[in-house]
Amino acid sequence: MLLVIKKDYDAISKEGARIVAEQVCKKPDCVLGFASGSSPLGLYKELIRMHREEGLDFSKVTTFNLDEYVGLPPEHDQSYHYFMWENLFKHLNVHPRRIHVLHGMADDVEAHCAWYEEQIVKCGGIDLQILGIGGNGHIAFNEPGSSLDSRTRINILTEKTRQDNARFFDSIDQVPKYAITMGIGTIMDARKLIILANGKSKAPAIKVTIEGPISAMVPATIVQMHHHATVLVDEEAASQLSDEWREE
Ligand code: GLP
Repeated sequence: MLLVIKKDYDAISKEGARIVAEQVCKKPDCVLGFASGSSPLGLYKELIRMHREEGLDFSKVTTFNLDEYVGLPPEHDQSYHYFMWENLFKHLNVHPRRIHVLHGMADDVEAHCAWYEEQIVKCGGIDLQILGIGGNGHIAFNEPGSSLDSRTRINILTEKTRQDNARFFDSIDQVPKYAITMGIGTIMDARKLIILANGKSKAPAIKVTIEGPISAMVPATIVQMHHHATVLVDEEAASQLSDEWREE
């Protein structure tokens, strides 16, 4: 695991986008895993700029998204499907057929999750997965207590996560209680991971993720076991880390 501390959000966004661009240039038909939430927004803006101004080409790229709320149709403005189209996909030249987002209204959720896992394998596995981190240390919607070996499935959201995400809805009652999410095992199968975190509210979760014992109670701690994970944080998110991490 590599820890990279940058001055601010802009700097982590640019560094994250640089790593994604490097992956796309090296392997134009690579498989990218994308996340929703506010953390990767700056990285997505930078990718859009690189596509427009520098011709970064996504025409052969395949994408898989981490998670989706159960019960929200793709056109709902708080669905992750909608979020990804508005904030990334519609601005890039990714072929729509190669974009995979879990469906929050799937009739047979179990079959849908199995199909998603199969598609990832069929496409050759995820080369680079981008992740945010929840205030409680969740990754995707793998809440505390999720099996460290879990696969794509339906999961109950904790009260903490529903409260954190209520800011995007009119009220907490509208925040779905369930989500479909790639499992921790699915995420760990990706060849490379980038974990993005910024701001003081993420500092406790980042401290445990980097320094704490690996535990299902803090799902993000599993990235300590990944052979190619980069944790990319700003000064505020790094503010509770021990001094050992700082260069002289
Ligand atoms: C959400 C998502 C995660 C995301 C996290 C952090 O609940 N399911 O994929 O990484 O919470 O969100 P944010 O980046 O908005 O802080």
